[in-house]
Amino acid sequence: MTVTGHARGATRTQPPGSPATVPAPASAFHGEATPWWRDAVIYQVYIRSFADGNGDGVGDLLGIRTRLPYLRALGVDAVWITPFYASPMADGGYDVAEHREVDPLFGTLGDAEALIAEAHRHGIRIIVDVVPNHTSAAHRWFREALDAAPRDAARDRYIFRTGRGAHGELPPNDWESVFGGPAWTRIAERPGEPGEWYLHLFDPAQPDLNWRHPEVRAEHEEILRFWLDRGVDGFRIDVAHGMIKADGLPDAGFTNQIQMLGSTVLPYFDQDEVHEIHRRWREILDEYPGERIAVAEAWAPSLERLAAYVRPDELHQAFNFHFLGTPWQRDELRAVIEDSLRTSALVGAPTTWVLSNHDIRRHVTRYGGGEEGLRRARAAALMMLALPGSAYLYQGEELGLEEVLDLPEELLQDPQRLRSEDGSSGRDGCRVPLPWGGSGSPYNFTPLNIANGWLPAPAHWREKTVEAQWDDAASTLGLYRKALKLRRDLAALGDGKLDWREDTEVLAGDVQHLLVFHRAPGFVCTVNVGTKPITIRRPGALELASVDLDEATPDGTVVLPPDSTAWWTDR
Ligand code: GLC
Repeated sequence: MTVTGHARGATRTQPPGSPATVPAPASAFHGEATPWWRDAVIYQVYIRSFADGNGDGVGDLLGIRTRLPYLRALGVDAVWITPFYASPMADGGYDVAEHREVDPLFGTLGDAEALIAEAHRHGIRIIVDVVPNHTSAAHRWFREALDAAPRDAARDRYIFRTGRGAHGELPPNDWESVFGGPAWTRIAERPGEPGEWYLHLFDPAQPDLNWRHPEVRAEHEEILRFWLDRGVDGFRIDVAHGMIKADGLPDAGFTNQIQMLGSTVLPYFDQDEVHEIHRRWREILDEYPGERIAVAEAWAPSLERLAAYVRPDELHQAFNFHFLGTPWQRDELRAVIEDSLRTSALVGAPTTWVLSNHDIRRHVTRYGGGEEGLRRARAAALMMLALPGSAYLYQGEELGLEEVLDLPEELLQDPQRLRSEDGSSGRDGCRVPLPWGGSGSPYNFTPLNIANGWLPAPAHWREKTVEAQWDDAASTLGLYRKALKLRRDLAALGDGKLDWREDTEVLAGDVQHLLVFHRAPGFVCTVNVGTKPITIRRPGALELASVDLDEATPDGTVVLPPDSTAWWTDR
């Protein structure tokens, strides 16, 4: 039998392009193994680029609502929506002017409430972003701070300092912005009169808050309650490792600091005191019924330090960026999987897995692009979805989208690119509006396809639209749909543990490129990360494979093609 994508029991359904095609269930959540988040598949919606409901070329809350049937048919448990709060959009909404207001670009508070309620009717949970490390420069607190005199209490909610040098003309320390350049900007106290500097670990339009200030803490507790009261199921905490800065703001002592993110302690990230804040937030989450969760976007220098964010009295999950950054090589993948499982087990938390998000190049491109990149991306996704724990999907990866690298200069908006020295590190290329259907950009991203999307989509995405892939079991969308369905159906998948199968009999090919793991009961995942086929004894009945796999060999063996993952069971 030759199997591609759907192996067994493939069903053909209509693309759920319109809400009418898939009726909402009367009541909510699937299967409900508790706690739900330990093995949830959480789909990241980058709101500007998911679906446009009002026809202005920018994705919005109404657009998400319209596409809930798609998300439900895809089979995800929850959706994380990037910030949709009042914002001047200096960093695509990660510069929040008021967390309790919805930016008109994305809709109204009523739209947010309607989306939460309707998602719940579809059995989908909603996780929203909270951005505590910094505010927008347009936040009322920052405007008050600028209007105040140096050392006035109104400046204490942020981090203002006098500069170094004879006239204060040098930044207060050597800290660098994640987006490039110094992390400090000098203000004018009055026109022509240079004064204090303020800290911004990201863009100058995102001043860092002073988390030792009680009002800052109280304000964020209220923000959490505001959205919990509106029924959200959890929060993704932006820069969760950043709120506390080392006492006295000491120099880092070296340059290119951001390249050390994830491998060394910096005086402005991953300070021990940050955990107090997370513990307090956990108490608030626990006051609400129904397992409300928080997931940390935390960069820590080791998996052990990352695990500290998910101790039993802190947050529920943390993104596993160590996995995301691992090359497509057996020993490295195996090591990161083992280390991730080991370190999260130390604190009793589930591991998370993620391959792409709105801040990095899409993994098809990272794995080499073109056919090879797509083949590896499909194999990596299938491997990830078989691992114990929770998985995050980034919108469009289920379509096999690659990074768009040739966007017109004048349309680029990412502040990271604008501040980087060679202009090369922008994140716009993974934020191109999703292709839903039709034959040209914006591929039904906007209603009736009338307006252009805020970034144009390439011509070859015609073959990548949801509509084009929906009924094709061999497509990447077909593969994800089937994988997510099996993940629900097979008791072995989801939370739990894995055992490596060292004893797999290899009849031809290089064992150095083979990963095989078993999950009880009766599930085996094989991954060939090499460029040559590997022949093994067939480990069971084929459930799903990321490539065409010829299962019909008479001698009970099977050839695993290069860059492929397959799922096997004993049923
Ligand atoms: C996080 C977000 C990123 C944003 C930054 C500043 O890393 O994922 O998109 O630019 O925080 O808020």
